[in-house]
Amino acid sequence: MNKIEDKMDAIVALCKRRGFVFQGSEIYGGLAGTWDYGPLGEALKWNVQSVWLRRFVWGKGNMFKVNAAILMNQKVWQASGHAAGFADPLVECKKCKHRFRADQITAADSEKGKCPDCGGELGAQRQFNMMFETHVGAVQDASSISYLRPETAQGMFVNFKNILDTEHPRLPFGMAQIGKAFRNEIAPRDFLFRSREFEQMEIEYFVDPKDWEKSFEYFRAEMNAFMSDIGLSATRIHELEVPESDRAHYSRRTIDFEYDFPFGRKELYGLAYRGDFDLKQHSEFSKVDLSYYDEEKKERFVPHCIEPSFGLDRSVLAILCDAYTEDDMGGDKRIYLKLHPSVAPYKVAVFPLLRNKPELVKKAEEVFATIQKDIPMTDYDDNGNVGKRYRRQDEIGTPFCVTIDFETIEKGNGVTVRDRDSGKQERVAEGELLKYLKDKVKG
Ligand code: GAP
Repeated sequence: MNKIEDKMDAIVALCKRRGFVFQGSEIYGGLAGTWDYGPLGEALKWNVQSVWLRRFVWGKGNMFKVNAAILMNQKVWQASGHAAGFADPLVECKKCKHRFRADQITAADSEKGKCPDCGGELGAQRQFNMMFETHVGAVQDASSISYLRPETAQGMFVNFKNILDTEHPRLPFGMAQIGKAFRNEIAPRDFLFRSREFEQMEIEYFVDPKDWEKSFEYFRAEMNAFMSDIGLSATRIHELEVPESDRAHYSRRTIDFEYDFPFGRKELYGLAYRGDFDLKQHSEFSKVDLSYYDEEKKERFVPHCIEPSFGLDRSVLAILCDAYTEDDMGGDKRIYLKLHPSVAPYKVAVFPLLRNKPELVKKAEEVFATIQKDIPMTDYDDNGNVGKRYRRQDEIGTPFCVTIDFETIEKGNGVTVRDRDSGKQERVAEGELLKYLKDKVKG
């Protein structure tokens, strides 16, 4: 497979065929920039979240996970700078009325001022605010305006004082949140890469201003470790030091973690040093004191903030692109997902060799029940011949298939465990099976 479109088309087709991701509102012709996750996509996504929580939140005494409302007081977005400045440059064709992000049309087209679709004349560039506006309550006036949040971050800054008052943490400490964000992208594209409704996993880590670099470097290393946890190839990841002219208004330093997607090297995650911008802005706009009192130093100050920000859907896309593999096995072309066990929707699948032999089925059901108690994402399949079942599981990235055959029953000679990537099988004693699998799939 050489063409970029071929690989993306193959991934999109696999996602639909196997129930990872569907087009949003598909039966009505879709809604651009929205995607619906099916059972396997949802499982993969949940696995990414749980790897993230394990690395960044669970077991860390100083990390507080919250779940803030999506709709917030409009003043939040005035304070954050989004109401005035969260905009992309937009140009519209005077002839066909198609709209483009000015920085995404080719240099040749934009130089000539011509529409890439119909060759018509492009209008003047203007700023287009990407926040989805709505009204809260029955009256629609300026005071009832609210927005679907364009980032999860602000839900944490506005709860900073609540965490201080309830958890009494000492610096450094962090707030973490996983949730939906919405951006009215001018040109949603590249499958899950740029959508209008997506999920973020974000951390706002509050530090003493003089210690910011230490925490920044800590998260830089942890973000790389997380990408390895979810199985992304290190050779496809590149750090980009974002120059001041390209940084968001709140950022004093940003590193983008870029990934080599089939359609080019693009931002996967970002790590920003937001200084005291957000807490100071919210203090000023809300008139609530958002400073911190250091008991040891007897000093009051506004903490600075380090923000590791992760797109959950972009993670899923990068994982799928990294894992998508075509090879020949036993003389047949095979498509499979070489997923890291930590993110694979099913870790194990259990089969009876034949579905019409009650003794095989009974044993397979027994083995399935035992494994499933400890490895909940275990599948059971007795449909079609065993070769086809292997291929079906390969295609969704299940790392191990356990087959109960006549040797299991007649000779008590254990079960076969097949490895997805090599296709090799080994016999494992029934009594050792659970430990064997747990060692292999622990993420
Ligand atoms: N709080 C900081 C912030 O939101 P961002 O770089 O605008 O920073 C963070 O977004 C991450 O969210 C990105 O690195 C990307 O992974 C994800 N993201 C942003 N826009 C997206 C979109 N339209 N579709 C999917 N993911 C997106």
